[in-house]
Amino acid sequence: MEEYGMYIDGKWVPSVEGGVFETKNPTNGEVLATFPAGTKEDVLRAIDAAEKAFPAWKKVPPPRRGEILLRAAQIMRQRKEELGTLISKEMGKVLSEGKGEVQEGIDFFEYIAGEGRRLLGETTPSELPNKFCMTVRQPVGVAGCITPWNFPISIPCWKLGAALISGDTIVFKPASITPLCAAKLVEILIEAGVPAGVINFVTGSGSVVGREIAENPRVRVVSFTGGVPTGIDIYSRAAKLLKPVHLELGGKNPQIVMDDANIDLAVDGVLFGAFGTAGQRCTATSRLIIHKNVYDEVMDKLLARVKAMKMGNPTDPKIDIGPVSSDDQEKKILEYIQIGLNEGAKLICGGKKVTGGEFDKGYFIEPTIFEAVQGMRITKEEIFGPVLAVMKANDFEDAVRQANDVDYGLSSSIYTKNINLAFRAIDELEAGITYINAPTIGAEIQLPFGGIKNTGNGGREAGTTAIEEFTEIKTVFIDYSDKLQKAQIDR
Ligand code: UN1
Repeated sequence: MEEYGMYIDGKWVPSVEGGVFETKNPTNGEVLATFPAGTKEDVLRAIDAAEKAFPAWKKVPPPRRGEILLRAAQIMRQRKEELGTLISKEMGKVLSEGKGEVQEGIDFFEYIAGEGRRLLGETTPSELPNKFCMTVRQPVGVAGCITPWNFPISIPCWKLGAALISGDTIVFKPASITPLCAAKLVEILIEAGVPAGVINFVTGSGSVVGREIAENPRVRVVSFTGGVPTGIDIYSRAAKLLKPVHLELGGKNPQIVMDDANIDLAVDGVLFGAFGTAGQRCTATSRLIIHKNVYDEVMDKLLARVKAMKMGNPTDPKIDIGPVSSDDQEKKILEYIQIGLNEGAKLICGGKKVTGGEFDKGYFIEPTIFEAVQGMRITKEEIFGPVLAVMKANDFEDAVRQANDVDYGLSSSIYTKNINLAFRAIDELEAGITYINAPTIGAEIQLPFGGIKNTGNGGREAGTTAIEEFTEIKTVFIDYSDKLQKAQIDR
């Protein structure tokens, strides 16, 4: 077991009050490491360090900042197997997905390193002679990055990578379920050459550490991925300071299967979308909407495939589905299964905690499928577990109506061979992401990631938009006429 500190001003340190907490393997309860329970005082020390480091970091040419990220990507590539295994141990996703997540972090660092040679502004003509107009991008200052446990390496890479290339310095609070993955990433960034004070890593609870990041006026921007109540809490605290906040808050993502679809492909898609990562992705398929003409065929094939899934230790490559991430998570998912039963949804398979032998030590829930009616709570609220609600649709319009009948709008998918319906789905599905003939999960980092409605507050991570939250645009006018020229008045 490792005893970790927080990383503040270039040093690994304990919390000022000396408290610690444990991070555990959800498969068997093994304690993997301890981390300091950060206090407000610790956050203030981290902000001091980040403020002090900012002027020098801002001056480092962005291509040089990019070289650090390329080195970090290289180290991650060399350690991919080890890091993927650690994700699998600390978070519980299967090994192939753990390694895929490390790859997503590598991909993003490599992509965003190139942004160091762009950070594009615009030039445009002036309405006056001998006058030049342009915009430049500047760093915001100290950025607060608060990350979730379901992608304990790649989502920190999205946020830290975009903040670093932009020239911001960072106070980074990882989820308390997965601090060890986050600590390994911090070590890699230090090894790659991030200077002291540029990244400060503060572990501890959201109600102490997260709250100070949201409320402290010296943290100039906050980027948060997690649940809606926490997102609203951060947003409202930051609003009093007019502090920009970027939120990515989950989904209730539908996969539609039309009657002309390749049914086997659609079943492959929903299996991966609904039960990959044991359903613990913001982008997970939590609703399957099937055209009535192919409903029975899809359900028969789906059920056969789900029954064949092997549950167990996610670091074993033969295993298809691992545990959920924690006891709280397990409790919440089982509560939702009970809610589904109470509101009259028909349980088709699963529905129980897996017990007996090795399973008693972990948080295993059977892959669960309900036949439901759109409008039930299990079709509207994010469960964040291996629970799929299936609905029948009369036609395309009915399918889209059901798909849109939620407060969220992150990902969405339709399986059809009809080009007209595919394009109509792009127009009509209320979501930040739409897949045609592919599952709702598996976004690529060179495109913007985020959603509409209650999924967020308008921003997009990754892709060409990644730097927007971490930079400010400065508009510049350069008058080389040597006289006072008056815009709008001199004509
Ligand atoms: C998330 O669940 O918060 O598209 C992120 C996907 C992954 C990212 C998910 N690339 O499923």
